[in-house]
Amino acid sequence: MRTLKYDKTILVKSSDKKGLEDAAAHLRSGEVVGFPTETVYGLGANALDEAAVNKIFEAKGRPGDNPLIVHIADKAQIPELVSEISPIAKELIEAFMPGPITVIMPKSDKIPMNVTAGLNTVGIRMPSKPEAREFLKLCDCPVAAPSANISGSPSPTCADHVMTDMDGYVYAVVDGGESDYGLESTVVDATGEVPVVLRPGAITSKMIADAVKLTSKDNTCLKAGETPKAPGMKYRHYAPHCDVEVIMLSENIDLINDETLLAEGTDIWGDFNFDGLSEEEKHLAFNLTIPFFNRIKDILDRNPLARIGVFTGIEVMAAIERLADDNLFYHTEFFVYGRTADTSAASHCLFDGLRELDINKVDIILATGFTGNGISKAYMNRLLKASCKLGDAPDAVKAGDNLNLRSKRDLESFKDTCTASVLFICDKNRNLSVTAEMVFRDLIRREAPFCSVASNDIGAELYAESCGINAINGDAPEEYTVKAIKEVCGLDASYITSLRGEASVYDDSDLIICLREDTLQKLIHNFPSLESKAFSLSSYAANCGLVIKNEEGRVVSWSIPDPSGENYVTHLHTVKLIKAYLELVFPYIIKDLGAKRI
Ligand code: TXA
Ligand code: MG
Repeated sequence: MRTLKYDKTILVKSSDKKGLEDAAAHLRSGEVVGFPTETVYGLGANALDEAAVNKIFEAKGRPGDNPLIVHIADKAQIPELVSEISPIAKELIEAFMPGPITVIMPKSDKIPMNVTAGLNTVGIRMPSKPEAREFLKLCDCPVAAPSANISGSPSPTCADHVMTDMDGYVYAVVDGGESDYGLESTVVDATGEVPVVLRPGAITSKMIADAVKLTSKDNTCLKAGETPKAPGMKYRHYAPHCDVEVIMLSENIDLINDETLLAEGTDIWGDFNFDGLSEEEKHLAFNLTIPFFNRIKDILDRNPLARIGVFTGIEVMAAIERLADDNLFYHTEFFVYGRTADTSAASHCLFDGLRELDINKVDIILATGFTGNGISKAYMNRLLKASCKLGDAPDAVKAGDNLNLRSKRDLESFKDTCTASVLFICDKNRNLSVTAEMVFRDLIRREAPFCSVASNDIGAELYAESCGINAINGDAPEEYTVKAIKEVCGLDASYITSLRGEASVYDDSDLIICLREDTLQKLIHNFPSLESKAFSLSSYAANCGLVIKNEEGRVVSWSIPDPSGENYVTHLHTVKLIKAYLELVFPYIIKDLGAKRI
């Protein structure tokens, strides 16, 4: 329950030295204060004071089961907060701090358990925004802070957003102007042998792989009885009240600012004048616009009273202005973030745009989507969460659903069909990925037929395949795996032969899921362009907002140990685990493949 604590929250300009000192002193002595960073605004409390940290959860209205990030002003603070700095952590700190990154390391005893939600690791972040560093320096203590929004709403990117959510609930808010990036930091687990990105952000996986020389070690599997590392991934969504629909830009469009970190404070708008564009540029602008235009018309055809919010770029708005009649224009509300193909500009404005359009009470928001591999990934991660609200997450597969085998013949009743496939990858393609392929095919068979999300008239044929990054073509699956698949799923996997992963295999699939985290790291390292469609089971599940907790209530990793060479019981357990996990993510995969059940 949230209870009002103050008549008024003090709003402090970051140029007001006295006000800053007062806010910092209050934070140090146990109050909660909102403050700016280059990513989003944070809601800070003294990280060494358990009671103060509890006040953050009260103000946010969220239970304290999601770990908080600890913010510092100086790298010299790190050693007292962590018990170990691994070589990987060291490289990440050197390469990216201060900046939009959070590095997970084993915690020291100084940090109370409510900061890390019971985990024995802690996320450390050193913001680069001058106003943040100045404030953190004045605080003179490590500052635990989540994003400063009410639980579930979009993260705040200006002091105004924080005041909207927190006025009366916290002591003060420091106004440091707009956040530069607009998306939260990249969260990287640096406790293992390879860095694992738990939340994408402005520092991309490619930048991380380039900075940390990847050592590919194979025996990173968990031994029986070992507790998996808790990734601390929690259902979080950034949903406004209305529906959000993504309109993808064509892959042929050259994205702007997707791979480079913007210098802080850059003017992302630049000059733009539609009439000054060349004929070719105008043509391109209309091409960008057509999917938006058609969708707006489509919505208005069905519901003439609808109010439609459009989160897009200046070219699209200008072209719609030139295409639309008064009625269409009257029913649309634009939030323009800059040039349409500028992914950094879109990221910078995303949360602001979602909030603003929501305040304007539109019924639906159409938002630009990008297929790029850089900051686009972080942007799409947040946007897709916004577009899949808790209430309308896809139907789950009902456990024990009777074997209602609807035959493929049903597809003939459609006017047309499309195909889509998911590829499962492990190391040798003899255990984990073979199991995943068989289990998933079985799920598809049980749940068919599917149609395209675009139209009920288009049938969707879905496929599951598997390969191994170090597989030997033609190898057979391990005998125990075949036996366990037979026992658990009643399916015969003996005819499957190993396939070695290579560019053409990867290109042919629409979605790639690696059964283990280290496999994904190696895959992306060798094929960086796959980043937009390749996930680990863990990162995919986290994107869907799915978490699994163990008996102690800790979040456990979905990374599955390779049972190769182990006894039959281990194989049996592995197949059951994969089956359980895939049943959970099945509806989300179907959705990602552009299909839905009929
Ligand atoms: O940019 C940001 O990171 C912002 C600004 C304020 O610094 N903060 C932020 O905090 O986004 P929050 O609480 O909204 O998100 C923190 C994320 C969560 O996904 C959490 O699960 C993860 O970091 N996290 C924190 N500590 C962790 C840990 N020890 N292990 C794994 N994940 C952790
Ligand atoms: Mg947050």
